[in-house]
Amino acid sequence: MLSIKSVCFFFIIPAAAYSTVKVRSQSQFPIVHNVTVTEGGTANMTCRVEHNDNTSLQWSNPAQQTLFFGDKKALRDNRIELVRASWQELTISISEVTLQDEGLYTCSLFTMPIKTAKAYLTVLGVPEMPEIDGLTKPVKEGDHVTLTCITSGSKPAAEIRWFRNEKEIKGAKEVNASGKTFTVKSSVQLQVDRDDDGVAYTCRVDHVALALSPQQATEVLEVHYAPRVEITHSAVHPQEGDYLKLECVSKGNPSPDPVLWTKDGSELPDIDRMIVEGRELTITSLNKTDNGTYRCEASNHLGTSSAEYVLYVYDPNALEQRGPDHALIGGVVAVVVFVTLCLIIVLGRYLARHKGTYLTNEAKGADDAPDADTAIINADGNHAHAEEKKEYFI
Ligand SMILES: *[C@@H]1O[C@H](CO)[C@@H](O)[C@H](O)[C@H]1NC(C)=O
Ligand SMILES: *[C@@H]1O[C@H](CO)[C@@H](O)[C@H](O)[C@H]1NC(C)=O
Ligand SMILES: *[C@@H]1O[C@H](CO)[C@@H](O)[C@H](O)[C@H]1NC(C)=O
Ligand SMILES: *[C@@H]1O[C@H](CO)[C@@H](O)[C@H](O)[C@H]1NC(C)=O
Ligand SMILES: *[C@@H]1O[C@H](CO)[C@@H](O)[C@H](O)[C@H]1NC(C)=O
Ligand SMILES: *[C@@H]1O[C@H](CO)[C@@H](O)[C@H](O)[C@H]1NC(C)=O
Repeated sequence: MLSIKSVCFFFIIPAAAYSTVKVRSQSQFPIVHNVTVTEGGTANMTCRVEHNDNTSLQWSNPAQQTLFFGDKKALRDNRIELVRASWQELTISISEVTLQDEGLYTCSLFTMPIKTAKAYLTVLGVPEMPEIDGLTKPVKEGDHVTLTCITSGSKPAAEIRWFRNEKEIKGAKEVNASGKTFTVKSSVQLQVDRDDDGVAYTCRVDHVALALSPQQATEVLEVHYAPRVEITHSAVHPQEGDYLKLECVSKGNPSPDPVLWTKDGSELPDIDRMIVEGRELTITSLNKTDNGTYRCEASNHLGTSSAEYVLYVYDPNALEQRGPDHALIGGVVAVVVFVTLCLIIVLGRYLARHKGTYLTNEAKGADDAPDADTAIINADGNHAHAEEKKEYFI
């Protein structure tokens, strides 16, 4: 018969033993971390054990080859070195990492049974310096251009961004895998116009392996376009004797030099006074005979353009010339006033004939007087006549 004590003994002892094993197995376990390294860099692979009863640690590569067993190097590879070896830690370093080094590395703790932990070594492929294709120099205005930017060797696939003078524009992306890395291509299509001349198109490669210094390529467009011409002038109402400067502002690429000045379809008539300097035509002392249509013409291999300026040389006495207008108006006003006055006088005389002596006297004097005052004076000294008149009218 089993006593309660012995029953307890059988249950408690295994339980105690089990718990001891459990504690040891929890702590005596290798711990590793995934590592990411840029191609060409150095990766440290660390394996730790919290509580180790002097059991050996080992690192092996994705091909299951042992790299280090404790502090003993197992694989002949100069790139792989021991950093630290103790019962608690085994750290090795792999320098000049290549994409082939990527994979699952195993840390083994030689307990019974062996305990392992796996760390993934990620190798980043550095994108190659991008190149811009598809640009011919120069391009003609109106041409369609497709700029292509290609970068290969990235892992993971790189991002390509386009900028037109710092301002981002959208590109069309295409990604192809080649082995472990990617070739990324991005293109932008543009119809070139004159505003694109001198504009920089930049293709920038963004990638986790280039976090601090993205790679980029830039192409500056050179756009050829036919000239466009306009004339600016120095005077609004050029007068005789004035100095006049006309500038032929012509924009074109290549620069349309020199410009050609003509007057009324032929050569400039007076070389001495009409001086052409660069794009400017200066007429030193304007004369009425300079009146006419001045034309400047500029051309390059893409075309010809011209602009015209009609010169009207004002007379310096322009104000006096305009005088007759005022004189005319004044004259008309004077005539109107005179006619009105005449009408008043005629009307006055007509009324006087019907009102009798008083008015007749005045009117009588007015007959041979040059003006009203004289008429009154005359009238005063002619009472006799006035009486005659009075009789006549009554
Ligand atoms: C690797 O470990 C060594 C020694 O601890 C240290 O000097 C080095 O910076 C580490 N390298 C990396 C990439 O962590
Ligand atoms: C582990 O090894 C050291 C010597 O390297 C020794 O002093 C120690 O007693 C050992 N510990 C165990 C638990 O075996
Ligand atoms: C380590 O990397 C592997 C493969 O990429 C992944 O499956 C695993 O979850 C990672 N482990 C940790 C702790 O990040
Ligand atoms: C990707 O592959 C396609 C088909 O093989 C090919 O036509 C294209 O040019 C490739 N693109 C790049 C960026 O390599
Ligand atoms: C304008 O030109 C005519 C003929 O060339 C000349 O006789 C005249 O003196 C000139 N007038 C002025 C203001 O220069
Ligand atoms: C100058 O040109 C105007 C028209 O532009 C014309 O009416 C005028 O008669 C011209 N004067 C001379 C002196 O040629």
